[in-house]
Amino acid sequence: MPVIHDPEKGIFSIHTDNSTYQMQVDKYGYLIHLYYGRRTEGVMDYIILFTERGLSASPYDAGNDRSYSLDYLPQEFPVEGTGDFRSPLLSIRDKSGAYGCDLRYAGYGIRKGKYSLPGLPAVYSDSEDDDAETLCITLKNERTGLSAELLYGVLPHLDIITRSVILTNKGESPVTVEKLQSACLDFLYGDYDLIDFYGRHTMERHMERFPLMHGSHVIGSRRGYSSHEYNPVIILADHETTESSGKCYAMQLVYSGGFKAEAEVDQYRQTRVQIGLTDDKFSYPLYPGQNITAPEAILTYSSEGIARISHDLHKCINRHIVRGKYRDIPHPVVLNSWEAMTFDFTGESLLGLAEEAKDLGVDMLVVDDGWFGDRFDDNRALGDWTPNEEKLGMSLPELVDKVNAIGLKFGIWFEPEMISENSDLYRAHPDWAMAIPGEKPVRGRNQLVLDFSRKDVVDYIYDSMVKVLDSANIEYVKWDCNRSIHDVYSHESETQGNVLYDYMLGLYSLLERLVRRYPDILFEGCSGGGGRFDAGMLYYTPQIWTSDNTDAMDRLSIHYGTSFGYPVSAISAHVSMCPNQQTGRTTPIGTRFIAAMTGAFGYELDPAELSPEEREEIRGQVKTYRKYEKLIREGLYYRLGNPDDENVVSWEFAAEDGSEALLCSVLHENHGNEHAHYVRPKGLTPGAEYTDDVTGKTYHADALMEAGFPLPIAKGDGEGYIYHLVRA
Ligand code: GLA
Repeated sequence: MPVIHDPEKGIFSIHTDNSTYQMQVDKYGYLIHLYYGRRTEGVMDYIILFTERGLSASPYDAGNDRSYSLDYLPQEFPVEGTGDFRSPLLSIRDKSGAYGCDLRYAGYGIRKGKYSLPGLPAVYSDSEDDDAETLCITLKNERTGLSAELLYGVLPHLDIITRSVILTNKGESPVTVEKLQSACLDFLYGDYDLIDFYGRHTMERHMERFPLMHGSHVIGSRRGYSSHEYNPVIILADHETTESSGKCYAMQLVYSGGFKAEAEVDQYRQTRVQIGLTDDKFSYPLYPGQNITAPEAILTYSSEGIARISHDLHKCINRHIVRGKYRDIPHPVVLNSWEAMTFDFTGESLLGLAEEAKDLGVDMLVVDDGWFGDRFDDNRALGDWTPNEEKLGMSLPELVDKVNAIGLKFGIWFEPEMISENSDLYRAHPDWAMAIPGEKPVRGRNQLVLDFSRKDVVDYIYDSMVKVLDSANIEYVKWDCNRSIHDVYSHESETQGNVLYDYMLGLYSLLERLVRRYPDILFEGCSGGGGRFDAGMLYYTPQIWTSDNTDAMDRLSIHYGTSFGYPVSAISAHVSMCPNQQTGRTTPIGTRFIAAMTGAFGYELDPAELSPEEREEIRGQVKTYRKYEKLIREGLYYRLGNPDDENVVSWEFAAEDGSEALLCSVLHENHGNEHAHYVRPKGLTPGAEYTDDVTGKTYHADALMEAGFPLPIAKGDGEGYIYHLVRA
C-alpha cells in the first residue's frame, strides 16, 4: 500500500520502494509538509519546532499562540494571504478584487491506479503490476466556496510521485486565479545546489549547478511554449552529491506552455522549491461551477546520486508518458529533406532523394517544410495545408506511393499552430491570428500564431490535417512550432488572462484527436529545434527534434543536458553534412554517427554529395544502429563526464541486468603528446567477465569499473569510439 493514512494523527504517508513523503493535517486544518526523502516507516509529527518568530503573524484561530505561523511552517499548498510571505502556489482574487483564500482540510480519498487529468497530459499507469495509487486531499475555503483537490499519484517501483491540483469554484461569485503552481517542496533545513537547464536556439539545455543563497532563484518561460531558454526540469542536490552518490530531488513539469520554477531560501534557511504555470499574463476567471487544472509535476528522490534520478525519470517517461505503438518498438531511421533541400525540391528530386536514401538502408523519407500552398520560402503560406501539386509535379498520394514503391516509408512536416499573413487562411480569417486590435502584431519568422484557445480554429486545423493525412500512406508527422506568443489576444476572450492556458488546452486537444485517429503515425515534436522539449509533448510525440544544431560536438553538450530529464528514445538526432551548416565545423563521419545514435536516429543530408567511402560507412552505421537500438532505447543511460568541462566525453547504455553495455567516447581536441584518457563504465555485474566485441578484448567488471581502460591515441580532433561489452 503506497499511501497510508493515520486518522488519529492526521498523517498521510506516501511510500515508494525507496522514498517516503509525509504530511499532516494539523489542529487548524492546514496541510503541513513533514518529510520527503529516503524511505522510512517513522512518523515525523515531532519534526517541527514551534516557536514564536518575531513579526510572523498567526491565523485568527491560533488565538494567543504566537508560535503558530504559516510564515515559517512547511506546507503542501501555500496560498497568498494567509500570513506566509514566501512565494505561494496559489493566489486568488475575489470579485471585490481582494486577495486571499484560506484553504483548510475538508477530506481525502485513496484509490488504486494513477489519476488522469482533464485535457492535460499526465503520467499514466496501465498495469496492475505498477501498484499505482492516487491520493486526493480536498481543501476548501468557506468564504469563496473555492475547493482545491490536491492530487498525488504514486508509481512506487519507480520512486515517482506526481502532483496536480484541480481548483473548482463551488461558490456563488466569480473568482480570479492570479497564480497556480502545481507542487512545492518545503524543506525544513538543508543547504542545496540547484541544477537547471538553460540555453538558446541551437544550444538548448545546458546544465548549470550552483548553491542556493537567500532569496529566490527563478527560471521559466514567458514565451507561450516551454522554450529554448529554460527547461521545465529542476534538480535540488546536496553540495556533495555526484552522479553516483548523495541525496537529490527532481521536479519536472508535464506541460509545454509557459512555466515558472522557483527556489527560495527564507530567513530561517528553509528552502521552498516550486514548479507550475507562469503567472505572466495569467489571470484566469473562474465562474461558479468552473474549474481549472494545474499541469502535473513529477517528483522523484534519490539517495544514490543524480544518475538514479535520471533513470527514474527516463523509465517514467518511457513507460508512463509516451503512448502508442512507438513506445515499444524501434523508431524508423529517417532521412529528412531539410538540410539537403530546404524549400528547393520537386516531386522528382524528392524521389531521387528517396532512391539514395534506400541505397543507404534508411527506413523513411521525411519531406520537411515546403510541400504545401505557396510555400517557396518561410515568409508565407502557413495555414494553407494543401499540397502544392504544381511544385511537386504530382499529387501527394502519387508521391507517397512512389516513395513506398522504392521501399521507404513516408513522413511529412506541419506547423499547425501558425499562420502567415500572406496565406489564404489569413485572408479569410484575420481574426484567427493572435494580434491586439489596433496594434501592429509582433512577427516571428514573419509569421503569427493562431488562436488555439478557440475551438473553431482548432477544428479547422484538425480538418485540414485530416484531409492530408487521410489522402496518402503517411507514417510520420513532424510537428513544428517556430515562434513564441507575444500578442496575447483572443477575440473570444473577455479578460485575456485565460488565453495562454486555454491555448495549451486547444493544442493538446488537437494532438489527442490526431494521435487517436492515427495510432500508426509516429509524431515527432519540434520547435525551432528543441524549444518545446518537455514531458507534455512526449505524451503525444514519442520523440522530439532536439536542436536545429546538428553539429556533433555541440550535440554532445545538448544531449548531455537533455539526458538529465529525458530518455534517449525521445532525443531525435541526425547525421548531417560537413562543414556543418550551423557551426562550420568538420567532424569525422564516425563521430557524427556516435553523437546521433544517442537518440532517435536519422540523417539530414543529400546522399548525392557523399563520397563512395562515406556511403559505405553510412550503410554500416545504419546496421550498427539497428544492432544496438534496443539497448539504447531500453538500457540505463549513464553520463560518464560533462562535455562542457572535459576534453573527452563518454556515456554509456547498460542493460539493467548487466548483460551488456555500449560505451561511447568522443575527444574534443587532440593536442601534441596528448595524455591518456580513461573510461570507467558503470552498471556492470560485479565479479563478471566482459568481452568487448568491437576490439575482442576481455576485462573483469570490477577492474573496468574501478580503473577503467585507456582510449587509443587520437590522430585528430573529434575522434569517437564505441565499445560493446558483453558479459560472459
Ligand atoms: C524549424 C525546424 C527545422 C525545419 C524548419 C523548416 O526550424 O526546427 O528542423 O523543419 O523549421 O522550416
